[in-house]
Amino acid sequence: MSAASALFEPYTLRSLTVPNRVWMAPMCQYSAEVFGPNAGVVNDWHFAHYTARATGGTGLILVEATAVSPEGRISPADLGIWNDTQVAALRRITAFLESQGTVPGIQIAHAGRKASTDRPWLGGAPLKPDSEEGWQPLAPSPVAWDEKHTVPTELTIDQIREIVGQFAAAARRALDAGFKVVEIHGAHGYLIGQFLSPHSNRRTDEYGGSFENRVRFALEVTDAVRAVWPDELPLFFRISATDWLEDGGWTADETVRLAALLKEHGVDLLDVSTGGNASGVRIPTGPGYQVPFAARVHDESPLAVAAVGMITEPEQAEKILANGEADAVLLGRELLRDPSWARRAARELGGEVHVPDQYHRSV
Ligand SMILES: Cc1cc2nc3c(=O)[nH]c(=O)nc-3n(C[C@H](O)[C@H](O)[C@H](O)COP(=O)(O)O)c2cc1C
Repeated sequence: MSAASALFEPYTLRSLTVPNRVWMAPMCQYSAEVFGPNAGVVNDWHFAHYTARATGGTGLILVEATAVSPEGRISPADLGIWNDTQVAALRRITAFLESQGTVPGIQIAHAGRKASTDRPWLGGAPLKPDSEEGWQPLAPSPVAWDEKHTVPTELTIDQIREIVGQFAAAARRALDAGFKVVEIHGAHGYLIGQFLSPHSNRRTDEYGGSFENRVRFALEVTDAVRAVWPDELPLFFRISATDWLEDGGWTADETVRLAALLKEHGVDLLDVSTGGNASGVRIPTGPGYQVPFAARVHDESPLAVAAVGMITEPEQAEKILANGEADAVLLGRELLRDPSWARRAARELGGEVHVPDQYHRSV
């Protein structure tokens, strides 16, 4: 079946077909309980939030950064995927998404030195390790994010191996929870991004220094996840294509180099974001400002690519695909404004999209 609009063409990766190319970017809700048996567990808020985007026709939803361990949370109210209670509750969301034809995906994450911060709407301040909700962050090197953040503890080789194992366990649990896509969070200066960039990685062992050493952790996590993630299901990796630093940061050239390696290690799609690893950096934002980075990876690497960042208009999204700059678009804040954006775009562009039976009179 050929659709009039590229945005509403189905897309197949491995054995998984996504009904359209309008996808929801992972967005932390910082809304889980902090303590007790329901710590890190999805609740009614998460159910309402994700299912509304599914009834709105979104082809694939990436559930927010979900921590592989308690220390890996950004805020104390983050979702977790380190125990079976968390898995059982996620099943209700994946089942509903599937009932709407939306592919359920999840981003698995470790915050590293950016862990232990408050909810953004409460100021997002770092929480001291000895405060009620805070803890001591871990990182490749004892370099704090900024002068207000706690200096993180440098990871030992044993601790690095343990975290690689936590990513694999998280992927296994994601499968058990009914997800069809796992995205490894390698972007925005969280733990994997901290290893990638010389700005945050000052190690002198086999995990620091050269490009090969800085990407080692990312590739080890990828291998461990791929080993437990079924061959017929796709694996995504989110990257910050650049730190936006003149000197001493991760660069777009390195992103292209890493993309080729990620493909060899079993990643199917690169979700191309930028920034978040260096404080005080000015990022030249504007409509589609990260699309050129996605387009470059698309041109120069064998990976499929999703573009993200200030993509808000149907025509704009359509052009990104029609120009061959990306294979899919991820929308963040625009889907917070309008959960049924995909339906609006389908109307404007003449594409076909799922509409729940209950809403048939609104077609
Ligand atoms: C409330 C909020 C939470 C976010 N949480 C995450 C996250 O969990 N993981 C991630 O990779 N990016 C996260 N982001 C970034 C988005 O995924 C997206 O890349 C960014 O908002 C740019 O896209 P947009 O202009 O369409 O919003 C978050 C953004 C927002 C607004």
